[in-house]
Amino acid sequence: MPSASAAFLPPELYRSEAVAALEREHVASRFWHPVVVAADLPPGHVRAVELLDLPVLLSHGHDGVVRAFRNRCPHRAVAFREPADGSVACRRLVCPYHGWTYDLGGTLLAAAREAEFVEPFDREAWPLEVLGCRVRASLIWVALGADPFPLDDQLDLPLQEAPDALARTLVPLAFHSQALTCNWKIANDNTLDDYHVAIAHPTTLHRMQGPVRHYSHRFGTWANVLATPWLDGDSEFLTFGLPPWNHLLLWPDGRLALIQFLPAAVDTCTMQVWLLGPEERQGEGEALMAEMVQFLAEDRALVESAQRGYGEGFRTGPPHRLEARILHQQAIYAALLVPWYASGRIPR
Ligand code: FES
Ligand SMILES: [Fe+2]
Repeated sequence: MPSASAAFLPPELYRSEAVAALEREHVASRFWHPVVVAADLPPGHVRAVELLDLPVLLSHGHDGVVRAFRNRCPHRAVAFREPADGSVACRRLVCPYHGWTYDLGGTLLAAAREAEFVEPFDREAWPLEVLGCRVRASLIWVALGADPFPLDDQLDLPLQEAPDALARTLVPLAFHSQALTCNWKIANDNTLDDYHVAIAHPTTLHRMQGPVRHYSHRFGTWANVLATPWLDGDSEFLTFGLPPWNHLLLWPDGRLALIQFLPAAVDTCTMQVWLLGPEERQGEGEALMAEMVQFLAEDRALVESAQRGYGEGFRTGPPHRLEARILHQQAIYAALLVPWYASGRIPR
């Protein structure tokens, strides 16, 4: 693990278009990204999603394998499905443009008027373009690049500390998505920030996390965690930070939440929140999400205010011990990005 520095990342990394492009290339592409709750894509179904503007097609074959492809026909680049379609039962993927037909494993089964191509036609030369795809913690994760770190590394601490919670099959209880007017790193830092909770969330998150003197932090190579005693006194509420912008919350009562901050532009991001749990809690989903949305709204006001302050002339103040999780994730980010930043390709 890169060692955490004693200072926060410099603000110029939060406001440069060039940095945002390098993040996509050298940070986002090295990790796995949750895109859909696994239970929302039953066997024999396909679904289109967008991940950082990349059209992705998910399929769940009758062989039980969940796969991800670029949602782009190899013939003339048209998408097979649109995100608005949701999960659709499907035996064959038929391109709406010229009808090339694929199975759910991405193999070309037939092209229209196959004998009449200009050159001899070889079906095997035109499979769908495969993206990395895994199911973990009841979510489908997709890799954007060809060389991601192993997903089980990205999830190192949750897998060590809560293997049973990650192995359980949970169902979606609620989903929330919201645009935030800030660089994704401001929102991400805030969600790793255990210094502000008692002050900024006195009647919401602070009630759930309890007295600051009982906080404990643990650090893996990739992930970190804030553990706070749960109401019963015997178990812990766990808030993991995972690179590059994910937060995994595990409650002792079986609930799991995944919060992510997807960059949209250099000064905007999209917060997505999945709340999952055991089937018998499905009726409570909206009320439980409403509780989360309360403290997330408190955070929104703060991160959007910080964004306005992060302009020219701002130098970050000193990190507090309760901000150690921010420094830990920033060190991972810096190790991936700063070699490019330092190479002079980024205007300072
Ligand atoms: S673009 Fe799909 S068949 Fe032509
Ligand atoms: Fe907060």
